[in-house]
Amino acid sequence: MTAPVAAPVLDVRGLRVSFRGFEGVAEVLQGVDLTVGKGERVGLVGESGCGKSVTMRAIMGILRAPPARVDGGEIRYLGRDVLTLGRRERDLLKGRDLSMVFQDPGTSLNPVFRIGEQLDDVMGWADRRGGERTSRRTRRGRILEVLKQVKLPDPALVYDAYPMQLSGGMRQRVLIAMALLNRPTLLIADEPGTALDVTTQDEILRLLDALVQHDGLSMLLISHNLGVVRAMTDRLYVMYAGAVVEEGATADVFADPRHPYTQALLRCVPKLDGSAVYAGIDGTLPDYTRPPGGCRFHPRCGYAHARCSEARPPAFEVGAGPVAHRSACWLEEPR
Ligand SMILES: Nc1ncnc2c1ncn2[C@@H]1O[C@H](COP(=O)(O)OP(=O)(O)OP(=O)(O)O)[C@@H](O)[C@H]1O
Ligand code: SF4
Ligand SMILES: [Mg+2]
Repeated sequence: MTAPVAAPVLDVRGLRVSFRGFEGVAEVLQGVDLTVGKGERVGLVGESGCGKSVTMRAIMGILRAPPARVDGGEIRYLGRDVLTLGRRERDLLKGRDLSMVFQDPGTSLNPVFRIGEQLDDVMGWADRRGGERTSRRTRRGRILEVLKQVKLPDPALVYDAYPMQLSGGMRQRVLIAMALLNRPTLLIADEPGTALDVTTQDEILRLLDALVQHDGLSMLLISHNLGVVRAMTDRLYVMYAGAVVEEGATADVFADPRHPYTQALLRCVPKLDGSAVYAGIDGTLPDYTRPPGGCRFHPRCGYAHARCSEARPPAFEVGAGPVAHRSACWLEEPR
């Protein structure tokens, strides 16, 4: 489910991923469609366990198999099918064009190596793989430049520091620097800064937004914070139990949420005047080893009717005029 995007950087079609475990096969992603255009900032939201990170990891090619298995679909990056690339080409893609900002600055850096060495490794590896020979001095120059770009106060000091000598906020900035180092086209940010206090997280997100806009990068942002997603993305995907259920321009989805799941998700956002209190959504995500048939949301949906458990709804065009977008719900089926 997705609107046609001119010259997409990333185009995911019908992506299906499952996990093999003692309890059987967990069919997590059931055909995810997702597109990111050039310079576009795209959000991905949905409750915990709905498959956001699995989608990201599949795109980055870092799902561990087994237990993970890609059962079908396509992941096209600048027109090339990532799933059919050889290991070398794929590694190169990951090291340069496609970059990811990880969530936890505490565990994503190696405590026994200096920051400069770790960044040098990332850059040197990508250069070698790309057939380029850069000197350590050249790489140092680029690393200091990026450390400055992420507004670290003394780049040379940070270059020589061990991760433990930096605060959590500084380490998260280093991770952003690491993601930007090889000048990627698409940045994937999975809950950046959630391990930090709210003020530092806010600073990090503002910085990320400024850098993405300044460099005209494409970004795929996962966040539980709907306020952040509203402010930082142009287009939005709402995901439930391994499928995209609503997609459209972020402003349109917020102005006219049509899928019952999106409506419930937005009702969970407290209002400043206290008129809406966190309500939560009744029920829980399904067991992926025995997912409900039809619309996976039907056991929790107040509008469910016979058809909902029989067949999976396709994406229908919803909303009139300026707020038109797409929702996968039988209530939207044209009569
Ligand atoms: N390595 C794994 N082995 C087995 N199952 C897994 C594995 N990784 C993910 N899953 C399954 O995939 C589901 C989706 O996980 P995912 O990490 O994508 O959720 P998420 O939407 O990113 O949640 P959160 O918001 O909490 O980060 C999980 O509920 C889990 O059942
Ligand atoms: S298809 Fe049915 S169960 Fe699913 S969201 Fe729509 S009304 Fe609810
Ligand atoms: Mg996640």
